[in-house]
Amino acid sequence: SGFFRRRIAAKLGRALQQPEDVLIPTVSAVSVSKKQISADFRLSVSTLRANGFLPSSGDIRQQTENLASQMKCDNEVENISVDREMIFFTVNRKLLVQKMLEPFEKHEDVKFGFNSELLNTLKKGTTLVEYSSPNIAKKFHVGHLRSTIIGNFIANLKQSLGNNVIRMNYLGDWGMQFGLLGAAFDRFGSQEKLKQNPLQHLFEVYVQANKEAEHDDGLMQAAQSFFRQLEQHEPQALTLWQQFRDITVKEYQSIYKRLGIHFDVYSGESEHLGQVQEVMQQLQSRGLLKTSGNGADVVDLSPDGDLSSVCTLLRSDGTSLYITRDLAAAVSRRRQYQFDEMIYVTDKSQSTHFQQLFQILSSMGHSWSYSCQHVPFGLVKGMKTRTGEVVFLEDVLDEVQARMLDNMSRSKTTKELDDPEDTAEKVGMSALITQDFKGPLQADYIFDWDRILQSHGDTGVFLQYTHARLHSLIQRNQQVDTSEFDPNLLQEQASIAMLQHLLRYDEVLYQSAQDLQPKHLVNFLLKLCHLIASAHRVLPVKGSLQDVAQARLRLFHGASSVLSGGMKTLGIIPVDKM
Ligand code: ARG
Repeated sequence: SGFFRRRIAAKLGRALQQPEDVLIPTVSAVSVSKKQISADFRLSVSTLRANGFLPSSGDIRQQTENLASQMKCDNEVENISVDREMIFFTVNRKLLVQKMLEPFEKHEDVKFGFNSELLNTLKKGTTLVEYSSPNIAKKFHVGHLRSTIIGNFIANLKQSLGNNVIRMNYLGDWGMQFGLLGAAFDRFGSQEKLKQNPLQHLFEVYVQANKEAEHDDGLMQAAQSFFRQLEQHEPQALTLWQQFRDITVKEYQSIYKRLGIHFDVYSGESEHLGQVQEVMQQLQSRGLLKTSGNGADVVDLSPDGDLSSVCTLLRSDGTSLYITRDLAAAVSRRRQYQFDEMIYVTDKSQSTHFQQLFQILSSMGHSWSYSCQHVPFGLVKGMKTRTGEVVFLEDVLDEVQARMLDNMSRSKTTKELDDPEDTAEKVGMSALITQDFKGPLQADYIFDWDRILQSHGDTGVFLQYTHARLHSLIQRNQQVDTSEFDPNLLQEQASIAMLQHLLRYDEVLYQSAQDLQPKHLVNFLLKLCHLIASAHRVLPVKGSLQDVAQARLRLFHGASSVLSGGMKTLGIIPVDKM
């Protein structure tokens, strides 16, 4: 689509006497045909006005007419028409087919859509994405699952757009809970169970410890003393803590692997305690620290400096808080990675926390705080498994797999599979991800297994099914040479509609890069699957003449390549058979 977008931008550039490259983002692809207009691209005159390319005064319809009359049709752009405040462009049909399917000759390795003028206007650099970030010995709740899949999507997207991406997991591996855990492990823990099922066992010990601590002051005191030992780096306490941490990380790594997710760095709250002092000194020297009534060190965040809104950084006993550790972590990450942007993915209940974090960083004079951003998401209710509540990530995976296997065994279309469990898990997870990504991330929703796992309608199962069907079509016709094809044989409505839709791909990626919302891509792929389904019905390969079959296969190669690339960006692992 870059080819056409650039041609139109050049026409517009001549009319407005502006360089074409600044105008490229204003040319949008339209895949809907409105009234009699079946167009491929659109210019919105109000957008041009809003961006200062046209005077904002005067009659906008008149302006639209004038602008359109200054742009001439040619062999590439065959028709220009006006509808209210919009100018529509229709490109040459043969060229549309040619240009869109050109990249797919060697369809295995194209990164279709990424080689685009529009995407080239995006800044590139080092992006640190922090996501998942579960807490040791605590529950891995739905919020952590969302953070995991959303963060993975953002990291994939940024990476495919040419950024150097650092994927970071920031574990909740410090704080009073480790005092309690350490003290209680002596009483209720077992090294053997810890090795067998670490996440489960630490969680059990922690739950029991919390229960006992309610009426056992001795345990509470032991917990405080254990945490103090930790803070003072007492070797014996530290060794046990390190064991808890190592074993947890190892276990998580293998579960993330099931999801096709990896992290470059496992960091955690414990990691930058050494830098807390440094941060406190910087705040002190800028005169930003105050002492509160109860002897804590606080930063005044109120606009009038009247302490009406403060953020505590050190308790009166000198121990740090969650935000203190985040400050130290941010400062040292910037130093270590020199990131151009840093993205934190957590549920929206932490929005204030991150606002305060960025505000304090900025008041410390760190101008890079403006390149830090929090991507908040809403709450999910009702994700239960057959055995009850979701406690671990593994529970979700097991549940998704079991339910999907069940559905597959009841479906008549299920193919014979080498590893049905593996396929069930991948298809099931894609169902979960698709459901989760369809709406705005901020929205809360109620989880429903049956709805997400449906094979019809806009689900992840439908995405996988379409992918598998394309894969088998391509497999079956491997011997057909598609390096040459005749674009005149792809002029049916079903083919043109699909190519028009593909024209929008770079725009969808562009939009996703701007607001980091996966909904643009998910909905684009779902629509693509509907178009593929229609194409399957009216553009059969089997039984067609050789040259027709060639051309149609080339079209399906293109669709398949965009679909699987898009699915991978979302964090969905495409299956070849189901
Ligand atoms: N461990 C935290 C939690 O479970 C999430 C960490 C988010 N990241 C951060 N830098 N604070 O709530």
